[in-house]
Amino acid sequence: MNLAEELALARAVHVLAVVLWIGGVGLVTLVLLPAARARGAAEGLRWFHAVERRFARQARVTTLAAGASGFWMLARMDAWWRYAEPAWWWIHAMTLVWLVFTVMLFVAEPLILDRRLRSLARADPERALRLLLLLHRALLLLSLVTVAGAVAGAHGWSFGG
Ligand code: HEM
Repeated sequence: MNLAEELALARAVHVLAVVLWIGGVGLVTLVLLPAARARGAAEGLRWFHAVERRFARQARVTTLAAGASGFWMLARMDAWWRYAEPAWWWIHAMTLVWLVFTVMLFVAEPLILDRRLRSLARADPERALRLLLLLHRALLLLSLVTVAGAVAGAHGWSFGG
């Protein structure tokens, strides 16, 4: 396999992982959380936790695959210098989104957030649900801007760079 084929394969893995991962974040944010709210906060949160647990596993696997294929491409293209150039802001954005999700999924959620959210959910379910919605909306927005910037940037348009 030559370098161009290797990069094409890594890109296919990368985009597949991103589709499953960010698509899932879109579903959670735009469909599941509003559906949970419609059930009433306390019952909605219980339902949401049961459903979302299945997605958390998928999100962990796809985050790992997107990160591995992304760093693989940077390494094979020897393109680390892009981190030093503002015109390649979408490389920074991808890395930032990946870092935020990695910390959330592998560190913050299992160690702190899960417990905190459960106690907030018992004390004030309305507030817990509002917080979850706000967090997911912000992450989805950041992810979508990143996807748009990455596709445009990878194909020649870097918005002011
Ligand atoms: C550590 C994390 C990541 C690294 C190192 C990384 C690296 C890369 C690299 C090197 C490319 C190819 C750029 C080129 O062709 O010049 C790429 C493409 C792309 N990445 Fe990432 N990426 C990461 C995370 C993400 C995330 C989190 C997203 C989505 C939110 C994302 C979405 C994309 C998209 C949509 C493309 C463009 C594919 C195309 O149209 O050819 N990446 N990434």
